[in-house]
Amino acid sequence: MKTIKFNFNNLKEKYKTPLYIYDENKIINNINMFKNNFKHEKINTKIIYASKAFLTKYMAKIIKEEELYLDCVSSGELYTAISAGFDPSKIFLHGNNKTKEELKEAFNYKVGTIVLDNLYEASMLLNIKDKGYKPNVMLRVNLSFQVDTHKYIKTSYEDSKFGVLINDETINVIKELSNDNTINFIGLHSHIGSQITDTNYFINHTKEMMKLYKMLKDKYNVNLKALNLGGGFGIKYLETDPFIDYSKLLNNMINTCYNLNKEYNLNIEDVMIEPGRSIVGNAGYTLYTINQIKKTPNTNYLFVDGSMNDNLRVALYEAKYDALIVDKENEPKKVNYKVAGKACESGDILIENIKLPKANINDLLLVINTGAYHYSMASNYNRLLIPAVVFIKDNKDKLVVRRQTLKDLIKYDM
Ligand code: LLP
Repeated sequence: MKTIKFNFNNLKEKYKTPLYIYDENKIINNINMFKNNFKHEKINTKIIYASKAFLTKYMAKIIKEEELYLDCVSSGELYTAISAGFDPSKIFLHGNNKTKEELKEAFNYKVGTIVLDNLYEASMLLNIKDKGYKPNVMLRVNLSFQVDTHKYIKTSYEDSKFGVLINDETINVIKELSNDNTINFIGLHSHIGSQITDTNYFINHTKEMMKLYKMLKDKYNVNLKALNLGGGFGIKYLETDPFIDYSKLLNNMINTCYNLNKEYNLNIEDVMIEPGRSIVGNAGYTLYTINQIKKTPNTNYLFVDGSMNDNLRVALYEAKYDALIVDKENEPKKVNYKVAGKACESGDILIENIKLPKANINDLLLVINTGAYHYSMASNYNRLLIPAVVFIKDNKDKLVVRRQTLKDLIKYDM
């Protein structure tokens, strides 16, 4: 594990634990990596940050400054982005179960692009005649494209709740959307799942989408201008996880689009991707204090002051994490520990099994690669408080979300 230069003792002193910590420079580097590699001289590209991975007003401000686009899936994500001054015309409104009210809200904000998740949403949109502007519209398709990832984060299989299969009914709706002059129907969207580490899936998926565009053009004379290939780029959580050559992958994806666009005689002008985890995942850390140590016949438990409330990913997807004990980075890792939290659930485990130096009560435990889907999936189960979020840039720390207080917990109780 690379050394991490932050002064965690100071951070604990200043902000208490558990604490979400983000390395802002790393986020910017990740964004630049996408910008530098997902580009082409002759075809436009858009990088849309999937805000579900991690969104606060400050994060929206970074995305704005870095001139990316933003994927929002709910009124709450929209509201956060707009409150941070994010330009609504650069927002893609996703969501698989939109309400009429949400669509109207999107119209009020004049959200740039609406991504319809199914045919019902398409008819809902077409039936609202008075939109107040002409939104860009995309339709999410489901290619039944098998990928290797946890079953809860696969999205593209025959009976998925997301997207529509390509059949006669869908093609009729695509034609209808293309011909409707209250909207700009720009193209299709397809997202195959999340935390995908085998890059071949992304290339094959790109090829399949291009074939679909060719079929729509050749057989139905439907000419689409934009193609959205979704997100799902996996990250390396553990040292032993495979290295993913992102630059090669992104170059390959955009070149495939450019070449097939030419070869198939298509008119695609804009290609989009929607990374979430790969922008913030490796930029986040969670700092805990070791509160108690307990030995059972077969296990050495480290009890930290956090829980599944701040990291649901272990309970939900059996996700695996690496960690270190602050100030013991150079000590030999001699003891096998199970790291558990405060929640009243046997499944409240943060690390199933990790070798660490001998730990003491009050040591600080730093879990790494916790930037995506941690804060955004945090809960108040057991009325535990959601930790603060601190960003560090050029060695300066900045509180971007304050820790919840007990008063926050009862503020909605009537
Ligand atoms: N685009 C769409 C339409 C999506 O549904 C998602 C993620 C993304 C982009 C971004 O995917 P990413 O690049 O972050 O993999 N809570 C789960 C992940 C759920 C992903 C949901 N959709 C986890 O913690 O692994």
